[in-house]
Amino acid sequence: MSYIAMNRFKIRPGRTADFEDIWKSRESKLKELKGFREFRLLKGPETEGHTLYSSHVLWDSREDFEAWTKSQQFRDSHRNAGKREGESPIMGHPQFEGFETVLHEA
Ligand code: HEM
Repeated sequence: MSYIAMNRFKIRPGRTADFEDIWKSRESKLKELKGFREFRLLKGPETEGHTLYSSHVLWDSREDFEAWTKSQQFRDSHRNAGKREGESPIMGHPQFEGFETVLHEA
């Protein structure tokens, strides 16, 4: 059954464009990976103090996702994550959530 891996990011006020640019300009490796189906960067509600975003990836299986987290591609994609110059647009650490698909209707 498919698996959805999501990371929630809280973005500082006024820094949403910077955060989106990081993602738009990244060199994505996802298409090289077994089991990768779809990627989305999702923008959620703006609350007092931050804007919520989520990276959302659909995988064929949890095993495929876990293999990616142990891959060179994962390390390459995170070499600069959170380590760019100046204050990061991201507040604190992202919060990871992984979901097994139970039902799928399309
Ligand atoms: C469970 C752990 C994590 C998962 C599942 C995850 C998921 C992802 C995915 C799917 C990508 C896109 C990779 C590609 O297109 O090839 C990515 C890149 C990125 N991740 Fe993560 N990530 C994790 C940990 C983190 C942490 C701890 C940070 C902390 C700042 C972070 C920040 C970023 C950023 C900013 C990018 C954009 C790439 C770049 O910086 O150039 N991620 N992540």
